[in-house]
Amino acid sequence: MRIALATAIAAFTLDDDLPPLLAALRERGHVADALAWDDPTVSWSRFDLVLLRSTWNYTECPAEFLTWCKRVAAQTRLLNPPELVRWNTDKRYLADLASKGVPVIPAYFLAPGDDPASFPAHAEFVVKPCIGAGSRDTQRYTAPNRAMAIAHAKRLLDTDRHVLVQPYLEAVDTAGETALLFFAGHYSHAIRKGPLLQRNGAATSALFAPEAITAREPTPAEIAVAQRTLAAIPGGAPLYARVDLLPSASGPQLLELELTEPSLFFAHAPGSAERFVAAIEAVLAG
Ligand SMILES: Nc1ncnc2c1ncn2[C@@H]1O[C@H](COP(=O)(O)OP(=O)(O)O)[C@@H](O)[C@H]1O
Ligand SMILES: [Mg+2]
Repeated sequence: MRIALATAIAAFTLDDDLPPLLAALRERGHVADALAWDDPTVSWSRFDLVLLRSTWNYTECPAEFLTWCKRVAAQTRLLNPPELVRWNTDKRYLADLASKGVPVIPAYFLAPGDDPASFPAHAEFVVKPCIGAGSRDTQRYTAPNRAMAIAHAKRLLDTDRHVLVQPYLEAVDTAGETALLFFAGHYSHAIRKGPLLQRNGAATSALFAPEAITAREPTPAEIAVAQRTLAAIPGGAPLYARVDLLPSASGPQLLELELTEPSLFFAHAPGSAERFVAAIEAVLAG
C-alpha cells in the first residue's frame, strides 16, 4: 500500500510519532511518506490511504481544512473520514456525547451573539474555544478574575468563534490527565499528561503547549468510561481514537475525544506503532 501521513509544514519536526510510524509501515512493506496538508503541490491521489496525523494548524483555518479533507476523500481514502473529522473538530460534540450518557466534564457553551457573561459561577474554571487544539486560547481563571474570563470569552465570540466554559477539575494538578489510545476499537496503550494551565496565566502561543508525558496503566473505571465514549461515536469506533480523561469526585470524566489529529505517543508504549499498522491493514482489508 502507498500511505501518506498528513502533517503540517510547521509540524514536521514536532511530531514524534512520524518516525516510528514511517518505520513500522515500511517494515511491513508499505510505501510511506510524511507530507504537509498545507503544501498545495502534493498530489494526494498517488496514495491508497491518507492518514491524518499532525495537521495541527488547522484550527487557524478550520473551514479550509474541512474542505481539504473532503477534496482528498474524493480522490482517495482519508482516515479518519471527513464527516467524523467535521463532527470532532468542534468541541460541541461533547454535548452530543453527554446526551448519550457519556460522563463529560460539565460544559456551558456560548455562541457568537450570546452574552459572554452568561456562564455559571465556578470557584475555578476554564475558558476555551470550541475549535481549538494544543491548549491555544485556553485559560484557567478563579472566581475573583471572572471579568478577565468574560473579556477572554468576548474576544473569542467577537471573532465568530464558539466558546465553552468548564469547571477546572483540580485533580489534574496532582493526578494529571489520562489519554487512552484505541486502534480499530481495540485498546492499545495509555499515557499520563501533566497539567497544562497556570492559574490566571497566559494562554500558549506555540503550536502546542509543552507537555509532560509518561506511560500510565489506566484504571478499570477509566477503561470503562473510554469504552462508553467509543460506543457513542457516530458510525462506531474509527481507525484511531484517543480518549482524554480527568479524575473528578464522581469518577473519570471526558475532557476530550480526539479523532482528528491526536498524538499517539508511540515512544511511550513498545509495540504500539506495530499495533497501529496492523489496525490500518485490518481496516483497509475490511
Ligand atoms: N476543565 C478542565 N479542568 C482541568 N484542566 C483542564 C480543563 N480543561 C482543559 N484543561 C487543561 O487544558 C488542556 C487543554 O484543554 P483541552 O480541552 O484538552 O483542549 P485542546 O484541544 O487544546 O487539547 C488540558 O490538557 C488540561 O491540562
Ligand atoms: Mg487536549
